[in-house]
Amino acid sequence: MPPPPRRPVHPPRKPGLHAASKPPPGEHGWDPVATWYDKLVGESGSDYHRQVILPATLRLLAPQPGESIIDVCCGQGVLLKPLLEAGVGQVTGIDASPRLIAAAKARHGAERRLAFITADVCVPGAWADGSHDAATCVMAVHDVADPVALFSNLARVLKPGGRAVLVLMHPCFRIPRQSHWGWDADQKIQYRRLDAYGSPQDIPITTHPGKNSGEQTLFHHRPLAELLTALGKSGLAVTACEELYSHRRSQAGPFSKAEHRAAQEFPLFLALTARRLQALTGK
Ligand SMILES: C[S@@+](CC[C@H](N)C(=O)[O-])C[C@H]1O[C@@H](n2cnc3c(N)ncnc32)[C@H](O)[C@@H]1O
Repeated sequence: MPPPPRRPVHPPRKPGLHAASKPPPGEHGWDPVATWYDKLVGESGSDYHRQVILPATLRLLAPQPGESIIDVCCGQGVLLKPLLEAGVGQVTGIDASPRLIAAAKARHGAERRLAFITADVCVPGAWADGSHDAATCVMAVHDVADPVALFSNLARVLKPGGRAVLVLMHPCFRIPRQSHWGWDADQKIQYRRLDAYGSPQDIPITTHPGKNSGEQTLFHHRPLAELLTALGKSGLAVTACEELYSHRRSQAGPFSKAEHRAAQEFPLFLALTARRLQALTGK
C-alpha cells in the first residue's frame, strides 16, 4: 500500500468554479449565473479560451469564407467574433439562457451576419434544419444533461457531410470533486488522482464560493465511451481527436519541474471533430 501523499497539490482553477457539496435547491442552468459568466469570459474569453480553446476550435474547424456556421451553446458569444473575422457568411448562436443570448446580442448584435436563437438544444426545433456547413459546441457538452439529444440535434443542424467541432473538459482527467493533483514525495512526481470515472454523475458547481449566493450549475460527467457512442448513435462520425494541455506554467520553485511535467502529461480538454453521416438514424 503506497503512503498517502504528503503534500496535496491543487491545480490553478478557473476563478469561481468550485464543486459544491449539495445540489442547489431551485433552478439549475446558466440563466441565473449569466452575469457572472459574462464577466468571467468578457470580450475575448478566459485565458484558457484565448490561449487553448479558441485557437484549437478555429484550427480544427477551418472556417471558410461564405460558410454558414452555428455555435451550439454559444453562451455570451465568445466564439462569434473570431468566426466573423474568419469571413464566414452567416453565424448563428444558440443557447438556452435568455440572459446569455442578450449578452451576446449586446456585444455583437449590430453585425448583420449574426443571428441568435434562444432554445434548449436537447429539444428538436426548426433550427435543426440541415442547412449549416459546420457547427461548434465549445465547453458545453458537460453542461447539457442529455448528450444523445444534444448530438442528435447537432447532426440535424448540419448539411449531410457537414462538420462539427466539440471542445469539452477532458472526461478522463477533469471531473469536479473526483479528480485531483497529488504529490508523491518518494518519486518526486505530481500525479493525477481519480476517485471515480466510470459512473455518470451530475455534479453541482457553485459559481461564487464564499459568497453563499446559492448560484450553481450542474456539471454532467459522462465516461468517454458513453460520449463517443452517443455521437455515433446521433449520426456523427468522429474524424479527429486532440487532447489539449494547459498553457499555464508554475512559478520557479522546488515543485516547478514536477508541476511542469504534470501539465504536459495530463490534458485539460478534449477536442473532437466529426462529420454528419449522410443518413441519420438517431432519435
Ligand atoms: C460553460 S458555458 C459555455 C458557453 C460558451 N460556449 C463559452 O465557451 O463561453 C455552457 C453553456 O451551455 C448552455 N447550455 C447548457 N445546457 C443547454 C441546453 N440544454 N440548451 C442550450 N444551451 C445549454 C448554457 O446556457 C451555457 O451558455
